[in-house]
Amino acid sequence: MQLSDLVTRMMNEPSPIRQIMKMAEKQNIINMGLDPDEIISYGGGWVGHHAPEPLRREYARICGDVESFHDSGKYSPTLGFDECRKAIAAMEKELFGVSLSTEHIIVGHSSTQLTHDLFVALANPGDRILLFDPTYANYPGQIHMTLKDARIVRQPVLDTGRWEYKSEDEMAEDFKVLHEREKPKMTIIPSPDNPSSQIFGDIFINTIADVCQDTDTFMVFDYAYKTQCFINPPGYFSWSPADHPSMIAVHSNSKWGRGLGRRLGWIDADERVIDAMERVQQRSILCPDTLHQFAFTRYIEHALEDGSLKRYLAEIKNAYRKAAEVTVKAIQEYLHLPCLIPQGGLYTLMKVGEDGDAFVKRVLKHTGVLFIPGKGFGDTLREAVRISYGPHVENVAIIEEGFRRVADYLKG
Ligand SMILES: Cc1ncc(COP(=O)(O)O)c(C=O)c1O
Repeated sequence: MQLSDLVTRMMNEPSPIRQIMKMAEKQNIINMGLDPDEIISYGGGWVGHHAPEPLRREYARICGDVESFHDSGKYSPTLGFDECRKAIAAMEKELFGVSLSTEHIIVGHSSTQLTHDLFVALANPGDRILLFDPTYANYPGQIHMTLKDARIVRQPVLDTGRWEYKSEDEMAEDFKVLHEREKPKMTIIPSPDNPSSQIFGDIFINTIADVCQDTDTFMVFDYAYKTQCFINPPGYFSWSPADHPSMIAVHSNSKWGRGLGRRLGWIDADERVIDAMERVQQRSILCPDTLHQFAFTRYIEHALEDGSLKRYLAEIKNAYRKAAEVTVKAIQEYLHLPCLIPQGGLYTLMKVGEDGDAFVKRVLKHTGVLFIPGKGFGDTLREAVRISYGPHVENVAIIEEGFRRVADYLKG
């Protein structure tokens, strides 16, 4: 059987993250002589908190009523239902002060699909795309899939000596030089970031905005973790595409309300970008999911009105902040290895001082504790691992136990 060259190449070069996740599958764990029930995983790139109860009740209401359920089986407009786009605009205004009208919004299946479609809508196969190093591991594969001969240009943002992000001024200078030299069509900015949980500051982002505006290129914010921001939100969190036509903001329902499997996302951007995305999305998914839009819209309308959305998000944010603190404290107390202080999101990065792959395999085999090797996120993380506290947010006691185990092994 002859598969496409693209997919054959992908299958021959599985990502390091995929390899480790395979290694951590139940049968492999048993083959290593370990008990699968004793594994402590810091590998999961997902959230462990519960969705808002009124949202669950909304699904129950739709599914419990014959006609509502029937209605939720119809196609949605490609751009999403107007009511849903209005609810998104109201939510963005209330939570972040972003001014949007429905013309600025397209609803999609997820931020993964929307990002894929954005590459098709905005760039040509030979274009250059600027990614930071480290950055979210899925982007390079998505770029190669949509834009075959695209060149990925990497800007290192982590100072691997001091194990902290470079100063904003330094990042801004690096960006100007790199952008001038490579002329990328798009710059992708996850903030808060996966894997580093850092939030880029206003000085750096203002520089990117000025350069993108002057060169008529795009800056794409990936806001998958926007509501899990532990520091004072930067000014650009409230930017609207009406004031910044070169900015595109990709949003996801996955992380804020534990909707990872109830797939829904949206983009806000200049109307011309939304128009282009409508054409592409018509071909990729035809339209977003109707049931999720119905439940989400009703929930948001009510939760904005009675103030419960803000209360829910504040609670969730505090739970992740606490999980982050417990994680950093355990690393400092047991392992004494450098790690980043999370400013939002679900992760920290720990410098292990040896090849990250080898460290992860060795530690898993001897302790049953799973980390993610850093390499898949960029060259700056060759000697680092990503640690996720996201799945443990409702059971933070387990976080410490894993580091204690690893410390015992490394000592002895
Ligand atoms: C930065 C970032 N963007 C996007 C996604 C995927 O989001 P979605 O579930 O909306 O496809 C993830 C998932 O981990 C992520 O970390």
